[in-house]
Order: sequence, then structure tokens, then C-alpha cells
Amino acid sequence: MTKILLAYSTVDGHTLTICERIRRALEAAGGTVTLVTVEQAASLDLAGFDKIAIGASIRYGKHRPNVAEFVERHASLLASRPSAFFSVNIVARKPEKNRAETNPYVRKFLARVPWKPALADVFAGRLNYPALGPVDRTMIRFIMWITKGPTDPTGVYEFTDWARVDAFAAALARL
Ligand SMILES: Cc1cc2nc3c(=O)[nH]c(=O)nc-3n(C[C@H](O)[C@H](O)[C@H](O)COP(=O)(O)O)c2cc1C
Repeated sequence: MTKILLAYSTVDGHTLTICERIRRALEAAGGTVTLVTVEQAASLDLAGFDKIAIGASIRYGKHRPNVAEFVERHASLLASRPSAFFSVNIVARKPEKNRAETNPYVRKFLARVPWKPALADVFAGRLNYPALGPVDRTMIRFIMWITKGPTDPTGVYEFTDWARVDAFAAALARL
């Protein structure tokens, strides 16, 4: 049975929701999935996994620093087996920025880490205005206003294309 590590980095939980869907697909395909945060993954024996996938969200232009740190620390192990990466951000709601090759955050991340995952993708995230603090809500509304996105502070907007997530999970199962 293929053992897969699925490590995630989230602030508001949407990347975990995406990972849970990927986990279900991998398990349906016969895999055994360990779903943990990047922090928790750091204390695991990674050599015990056949495949490793990492999902991380963007906040104010960046993934959390521990994502790159994890990749740097385990670069040779990641190179030794099938691996995958996906980013979750709101810019990816735009068709011209919703592929690994065209999303600025994925491009920047993969350019600076010593890792060439066999599979890389990006999924548009979720905005839950009522759940944000006043400073973040104001900042995000301003960014959305500039980029012609939704600005209703009472709105919850999910931009994730779940068919894309399913396709990623299927490709990961085949790696
Ligand atoms: C405070 C804050 C800052 C964000 N900054 C960015 C950003 O710079 N670029 C972007 O594309 N999306 C940005 N987003 C959108 C998030 O990436 C999106 O909400 C994602 O679904 C969050 O995933 P998570 O719940 O797993 O953390 C931001 C969201 C919040 C709440």
C-alpha cells in the first residue's frame, strides 16, 4: 500500500479542507495518508513515506517561512521520491493566474527552493470577511477593490475549483 504524507500550512483552515478532499481521493485509490501540519511533519521520519505532498496558503504575499524551511531541510529526501506542491491564494481566481506556471506565488516559491516537485498546482482560496479581524478585513477589501473582487464585508466567497482539486488528487495517486 502506498504511504503518502500530506503536509499543510494554513491560517484560516481552507488549505486543510482542500487536503481533506485530496486525502479522501487518495484513500479511495488505495493509499494510506498521513495528514499533518508542516510543523508536525518536521518531527516525522519522512523516509517512511513513498510520496510527499505539501499544500500551503498565501497571506500578504507569502507562504509561511516554515514551508520553505521544511523543503530546504528535506531537499534530498524530496528529490528521492514522487512529490507534489500546491499553493492556495486568491489571485488564482483569475484565469490568467490559476496555473502553477502563471501564478506569481507558485513561480516565486519554486524558484527559491531547492525542489522540483513532479506535480505543482494552485487553487483559488476562500474569503470569509466576517471571520477576519478589522485590520485584515479592511486590507483585503482594499486589495479586492483594486483587483475587482468582492468587497461586501458580510460575504463569504469560495473560489476553489473542486474539479481542479480532484484532478490534482488523481494525478498524485498516479505519480
Ligand atoms: C489577511 C489575509 C491576507 C491574504 N493575502 C493574500 C495575498 O497576498 N495574495 C493572495 O492571492 N491571497 C491572499 N489571501 C487569500 C488567502 O490566500 C485565501 O483566503 C486562502 O483561502 C487562505 O487559505 P487558508 O485558510 O488555508 O489560510 C489573504 C487572505 C487573508 C485573510
